[in-house]
Amino acid sequence: MMNTPVIEVNGISKSFSSTKALTGVSMSVFPGEIRGLIGENGSGKSTLSAIISGNLKADEGTMKLFGEPYAPQTSFDASEKGVSMIVQEQGTIATITAAANIFAGREKQFCKFGLLNSKALNTEAQKLMEKIGVTDIPMETVVRFLSFEERKLVEVARSFYKTPELFIVDETTTALPRKGREILYGLIRQLKTRGKSVLFISHDIEELNGVCDTVTILRDGKLIATLGENEKDPQKMKSLMVGREVTANYYRDDFECTGMGEDPILKVESLSGGQIDNVSFILKKGEILGIAGLSDSGMHELGKMIFGLLPLESGRVSLADGTPVDTPHHAIRNKIGFMSKNRDTESMLISMSIQDNVVLPSLDNLKKFGFFITPGAEKALAKEWCGKLNVKMRDLGQSCAELSGGNKQKIVLAKWLGNGSDIFILDCPTRGIDIGVKEAIYDIMEDLKKQGKSIIMISEELPEIIGMSDRIITIKDGKSTREFRRSRSLTEQDIIQYMI
Ligand SMILES: Nc1ncnc2c1ncn2[C@@H]1O[C@H](COP(=O)(O)OP(=O)(O)OP(=O)(O)O)[C@@H](O)[C@H]1O
Ligand SMILES: [Mg+2]
Repeated sequence: MMNTPVIEVNGISKSFSSTKALTGVSMSVFPGEIRGLIGENGSGKSTLSAIISGNLKADEGTMKLFGEPYAPQTSFDASEKGVSMIVQEQGTIATITAAANIFAGREKQFCKFGLLNSKALNTEAQKLMEKIGVTDIPMETVVRFLSFEERKLVEVARSFYKTPELFIVDETTTALPRKGREILYGLIRQLKTRGKSVLFISHDIEELNGVCDTVTILRDGKLIATLGENEKDPQKMKSLMVGREVTANYYRDDFECTGMGEDPILKVESLSGGQIDNVSFILKKGEILGIAGLSDSGMHELGKMIFGLLPLESGRVSLADGTPVDTPHHAIRNKIGFMSKNRDTESMLISMSIQDNVVLPSLDNLKKFGFFITPGAEKALAKEWCGKLNVKMRDLGQSCAELSGGNKQKIVLAKWLGNGSDIFILDCPTRGIDIGVKEAIYDIMEDLKKQGKSIIMISEELPEIIGMSDRIITIKDGKSTREFRRSRSLTEQDIIQYMI
């Protein structure tokens, strides 16, 4: 690959007040190359991508696109020049239609005498969606009414209005169901065969290795190494990323269902609603119960239903003593915590500070003499848990909106840990989390179990389901299909056949 790089970045630095997000990063990506970008949460991956895609401006450094100076003013400008990006968080405008999102900034072509021809706009948008292989999203729908997955696909279509020369995918695939993921992988392969390039960000090292030709590693905003095709050893990538050796197996190492009583702590009886059809189980004290399924199996809805966030058509959720749990308010009062898969919109008050978010469910516990909450107590609680989870932040007063994706996830977990919950419903608890912190989260789960607390872990990642659960329930098309007990001999294949 001795030709001119598609993109060349030179000495890029970027700070956000006192946070140095990037320091002197230089790298080149060549035509037809699929480059992976990895690094711990907060290491600067999204910041670098945002600079290349015109969403942010660097403080220092220069860029070249096909050897020509390149300094995009906006993301629209970048996409006109051939660089487009799927962002890590929401990248669509919620209040306008899917079609309007796809052609945002390009509406002119659908205007005549100052009037917008919505019909033509919708038809063109539909064609573009079909081009990427999606036929079931109505283009006239206001984006707010679409699911996270659908919105992401709208973003993908927007990026392919013009075939990008450089396509940046920031930590998107883990949020997509299998079908959406396959669409993206397919598009990436197509781009490669046409000599176009991709910058691909993921915390899933196996996925990254499968998709990418080469990998660049960032640590604390600095470029540590770029590994070529024959150097991409997972263990090497992990230790370069974290700056120390990482244990190969970070799951539980016991294979008996130890520490688990027979006492039920939560009863889920004949739950139906939405996609969920007659699901029942009893969660025991000290148990980690894994719920495995494809992301469109209904298992994410199940978590929300148990927490009282989604209405039930029939069935009942109750504590061991019979107390019903039917609203989030009841759930929280009864020491149930819930971490949603979509942390930005459902699990945190994004514009509030880190401290406010962490202490929110604990305000009752912090009251002294039944009335007063001292600022000191709030701060101590937030400090304790942000410390344990190694949250990368400036201070506790920083707005959650400014945190990197994985660090937002940690705040959501801190919130329920700090509140002393007894039951945790964790929906994709390690999505977007770097391997170092993943290790810490698994340790915390084991610790919670040892304290007699119970966890329902909903996850698409079978290794963590097998690695951590005492018991596993598979969900397919809204129904529970099989139950497995923890065992050394359990394999992904055993489980998959009951999921698909
Ligand atoms: N708008 C902002 N204001 C303040 N700080 C910011 C802002 N955006 C990013 N940062 C900080 O810059 C650093 C790098 O963040 P970035 O989002 O690039 O990390 P990342 O590698 O993408 O992490 P993750 O894997 O968690 O997504 C972090 O410390 C983050 O808190
Ligand atoms: Mg990021």
